[in-house]
Amino acid sequence: MKANIIDGKKISGEIREEIKEKVSDLIKNKGIVPGLTVILVGDDPASQIYVRNKARACKEVGMKSNIIRYDSSISQEKLLNAINELNEDENVHGILVQLPIPEHIDAQLVIDAIDPRKDVDGFHPVNVGKLSIGDDTLEPCTAKGVITLIERAGVEIEGKNAVIIGRSNIVGKPTALMLLHKNATVTICHSRTKDLKGIAKDADILVAAIGSPEFIDGSYIKEGAIVIDVGTSRVNNKLYGDVMFDEAVQKASWITPVPGGVGPMTITMLLENTLKCAESHE
Ligand code: GUN
Repeated sequence: MKANIIDGKKISGEIREEIKEKVSDLIKNKGIVPGLTVILVGDDPASQIYVRNKARACKEVGMKSNIIRYDSSISQEKLLNAINELNEDENVHGILVQLPIPEHIDAQLVIDAIDPRKDVDGFHPVNVGKLSIGDDTLEPCTAKGVITLIERAGVEIEGKNAVIIGRSNIVGKPTALMLLHKNATVTICHSRTKDLKGIAKDADILVAAIGSPEFIDGSYIKEGAIVIDVGTSRVNNKLYGDVMFDEAVQKASWITPVPGGVGPMTITMLLENTLKCAESHE
């Protein structure tokens, strides 16, 4: 079997057009311009690019965006105070603190300080709890992107064996919960899993979120599986996924490429979350 490619860039573009229209309606009908504030601490080059891309994407769909930059020496107290001010600011609907932050600051305390109603990352314990019990909430962007790609490809999730490789709070766990709520039978694998290949080979839906370039070769993939590659590892300035694409494409029925698969979806889902925050703003 030669897989169909799930074109994340194209799907992302279509969704951004839909968001643009909704933003325009919100401005026209309620006078609310959705606004996202991104906090960047330090000068990590990759984070600088991510943050700039997020701000640009907001502008492209008619939202306001603002980047607040702090030196890596900022104290935890000062950062928490800055978040409190944004929590109180009526014009800020979404707050995102770009991770990682310097080690002298407790990242969980920072996440906890964000008003859960403005937590566009979906990382606040209130939102994590809501996701776990199946309540409507702000869902982590990459996980939401994975589910959206599967659904937009027209693939039925209910009843499928879904295997997620990776158990991070940002991707693996929320993706597992979201697939479970859509009635997949879900297995989460990680670095201590025994017989990873045997479990992966049973997957109708295989989500690779390991962060290890081309770890998953064709022998991990069941004939006809849907393969979603969340990995993005930069090696010698070239981007690699977790999946060996050339082998996997021969076995899967649907597959996401890297780049151009999950990557573009993450920012698109951030825009969706920011819009959702602005729409529910009282
Ligand atoms: N750093 C890498 N990915 C993410 C993300 O999804 N959100 C935030 N805030 N920081 C990140």
